[in-house]
Amino acid sequence: MKKIIITGGAGFIGTHVVRRFVKKYLDCKIINVDKLTYAGNLTNLEDLEHAENYQFIKGDIVDANFVHELFETHQPDGIIHLAAESHVDRSISNPLEFVMTNVVGTVNLLNTAKSSKNPNFRFYHISTDEVYGELGAEGLFTEETKYDPHSPYSASKASSDHFVRAYHDTYGLDIVISNCSNNYGAHQFPEKLIPLAINNIKNNKAVPIYGDGLNVRDWLWVEDHARAIEEIYFKGKTGETYNIGGHNEWTNLDLIHVLCNLMDEKLNRPKDSSKELITFVKDRAGHDARYAIDASKIANELNWKPSLQFKEGLSKTIDWYLENEKWMERVTSGAYKEYYEKMYDAN
Ligand code: NAD
Ligand code: TYD
Repeated sequence: MKKIIITGGAGFIGTHVVRRFVKKYLDCKIINVDKLTYAGNLTNLEDLEHAENYQFIKGDIVDANFVHELFETHQPDGIIHLAAESHVDRSISNPLEFVMTNVVGTVNLLNTAKSSKNPNFRFYHISTDEVYGELGAEGLFTEETKYDPHSPYSASKASSDHFVRAYHDTYGLDIVISNCSNNYGAHQFPEKLIPLAINNIKNNKAVPIYGDGLNVRDWLWVEDHARAIEEIYFKGKTGETYNIGGHNEWTNLDLIHVLCNLMDEKLNRPKDSSKELITFVKDRAGHDARYAIDASKIANELNWKPSLQFKEGLSKTIDWYLENEKWMERVTSGAYKEYYEKMYDAN
């Protein structure tokens, strides 16, 4: 049986990747390795607990001994590496944690992977478009765009990307990298814009908009990202980078207006009432003006395209959060974390 390690599988995107692989590749064992930080939540994957081709292992990729043991025990055929500290605002208040997980953790995995006894071992590193910095009103990020990260988060991801390429060039490790735009969908921790706004509107709380709200992001449905990851893992060319994006640019303010209208409808509130919750707050330090992806390489080489229209995706996403109140309560209270930590520390 082939074995694939997925790191960060209990987080937002990882959850969708793990589920896709476990359900589709029954002849392949999927090993989800996650530290279960505040952002990792095993309730995301409860439906897979009894799947025969799935295993969860709690562990920290910053711990080199743990990573070494993991590879010794399981002898994986490849790794899809998503584990990271992922929130820009947290990186501004605690940059070192981002260096530890995103840089040191990635290098630990690379060090172990380069000594893999499996000659066909593949290292797939999941990265972000934020490594390219910011765009003005025109233009798109291509795979050739020069790196120019501005936040501690994007600087740590850029650094890890460089290490991954260096291990390909120096040690001949089979690597692929993808750089994706902002994801949205179910199971995203409500510190990120879309789930935070949904939760606040539902609870009649202020929706904070940083600065003038004119910063632009290119939004992609998370399940389309998971599908791109599957294509790249199996068919991407070694040493290559693939940009992934939604062809779906929105200023934060326009996006929140659409979201407010949908929330009014879904909560049966008077038209335009949610918009009254919009509150302009101090801008994020180093706030990138615009991200937008040229995803023609993955479209041409791997025949991947986004599948969902944004308004449909946003509507589905809102429905998920409104239907999963308990999930929201658990992740915001931190109760789930204590529960699972006790459970896995006891094992
Ligand atoms: P997330 O914060 O929701 O999840 C990260 C997961 O990694 C969590 O389950 C956490 O417990 C785990 N983790 C953190 N530190 C760890 C450690 N030291 N050892 C083991 N596990 C650890 O993040 P996400 O939004 O799902 O992002 C996943 C990946 O995709 C990241 O590498 C991120 O940079 C990248 N990415 C995210 C987006 C986005 O819009 N969310 C866009 C492009 C790329
Ligand atoms: P976020 O979801 O944190 O993703 P990223 O910083 O990786 O793009 O933020 C998306 C955009 O929304 C970004 O321009 C910052 C802005 N934003 C707000 O205006 N208010 C908020 O409360 C948050 C969390 C983000």
